Amino acid sequence: RDSSGHSQIYSWGQKKFSSVLSPDYVQQHWKEDAFFGYQFLNGVNPMLIRRCTALPSNFPVTDDMVFPSGQCNLADELKVTNGNIFLCDYKLLDGLPANTINGKKQYLMAPLVLLHKTPDDNLMPIAIQQTPAEDNPIFFPTDSEYDWLMAKIFVRSADFTMHGLNVHLLRTHLLAEVFAVSLLRNVPMVHPLYKLLVPHTRYTLQTNFLARQLLISKTGIFPFTATGYDTFYSVLRRSLPSVTFSSLCIPDDIAERGLEDVPNFYYRNDGLMLWNTINRCYNFVERIITYYYRNDTEVQQDSELQKWISDIFEHGFLSQTSTGIPQRFATIDELVKFVTMVIFTCSAQHAAVNSGQYDYGGWMPNAPPTLQRPPPTTKGTTSEATMMQTFPDVNATVQIMSVLWLLSKESSDFVPLGQYQEDHFTEDIPRMLIKCFQAELEVLNAVIKARNNGLKVPYTYMDPVKVENSIAI
Ligand SMILES: *[C@@H]1O[C@H](CO)[C@@H](O)[C@H](O)[C@H]1NC(C)=O
Ligand SMILES: *[C@@H]1O[C@H](CO)[C@@H](O)[C@H](O)[C@H]1NC(C)=O
Ligand SMILES: [Fe+2]
Repeated sequence: RDSSGHSQIYSWGQKKFSSVLSPDYVQQHWKEDAFFGYQFLNGVNPMLIRRCTALPSNFPVTDDMVFPSGQCNLADELKVTNGNIFLCDYKLLDGLPANTINGKKQYLMAPLVLLHKTPDDNLMPIAIQQTPAEDNPIFFPTDSEYDWLMAKIFVRSADFTMHGLNVHLLRTHLLAEVFAVSLLRNVPMVHPLYKLLVPHTRYTLQTNFLARQLLISKTGIFPFTATGYDTFYSVLRRSLPSVTFSSLCIPDDIAERGLEDVPNFYYRNDGLMLWNTINRCYNFVERIITYYYRNDTEVQQDSELQKWISDIFEHGFLSQTSTGIPQRFATIDELVKFVTMVIFTCSAQHAAVNSGQYDYGGWMPNAPPTLQRPPPTTKGTTSEATMMQTFPDVNATVQIMSVLWLLSKESSDFVPLGQYQEDHFTEDIPRMLIKCFQAELEVLNAVIKARNNGLKVPYTYMDPVKVENSIAI
């Protein structure tokens, strides 16, 4: 952050730390198993990995396959408490028709990835199967160099689709639009909820409008991705049931995925600190809300507040009670948690899944937007030449690279989390609470900076000075 307060931690090409996560760094490390595992925790998609305590029935791996030198056994490693096995399952993509690019059929797989946390705290992939099927072999690190690398490349390409459409577009951009539209429709400007949330909706409708015209359109990015325009909606439709209230609240999400004690998981560490700062440490949201609502009855009787949440439930979550999204607010606590989730989603969560897109995807082999040969069905048939034929054409690659570069750029009028350009609140107590919130975010910035100084690769995406107040890009 320079003296003007504008956050610019790294200038391009200038390394303040031993290694900055950048396309150059990724080019040097993308083939390494430890880096492949690291990305499930701290890359642009930290949302898929979960602890695995029982192998899926369609993934029949045995001790001899994954621990050939007998260093561990699966039964012990899978145990419920402090188990060391993790799973990433892209089944949501299974069976979706892929695009045709430059006259060539493309391939989109739905891989299963098994990972093992080693005693030295690396998360190592130990088995990968493409769309589980009889004729798809399970690949292991002991296979030939290119068999194993190709297996990982198909995972990284599935992750490009899963991240872009589910984790980034649906779970942040489109959700934030639902929250914003419901706010504008139902809540007047003088209402405290409006004052609290409107800064977190800045530019979101404009950004999504432009995205619909220029990016997620027939002529935008889809001519160059594995799904294409036609399959894009299927991915969103299939993703929607997984967008539950608990999966949007990071403390609940981490617990549900069994990831409380995974080492080196900075998305979780920083995300929980931010959640607590928004929600609890200085009780920012809670104290603002309880300043205006003295008891649960007052919450229940606020018809504007109730219209805000029922509109979200009906039009954002299609009235699906299985999502756990409240249809109305009965208590102050429910309201505080929901508002915390909205602020977190529009700021920290979007930063975590948006800002690193060029860092990780600028070196295309680490995140291929599409692949143009099927995965091998027989071991020992891949080589560097088949890998090169599998990667997308140069002209498709550069289109996607330019989009990732644009989406990762900090905007010229960036407003960091907790900074409010307009004084919506006029009373002393809410204004004091905003100052406390800002002070707490400064502490968090110092904590994250100190932590990053000791890391080989710093995790900066959720540093409050790098987190934008709203979804603006
Ligand atoms: C809630 O607060 C209002 C306003 O102070 C008061 O009139 C009402 O009796 C309270 N209700 C309950 C259940 O405490
Ligand atoms: C893109 O590149 C491919 C492969 O080199 C080529 O066949 C195709 O004609 C190119 N498309 C355009 C629009 O230039
Ligand atoms: Fe974004």
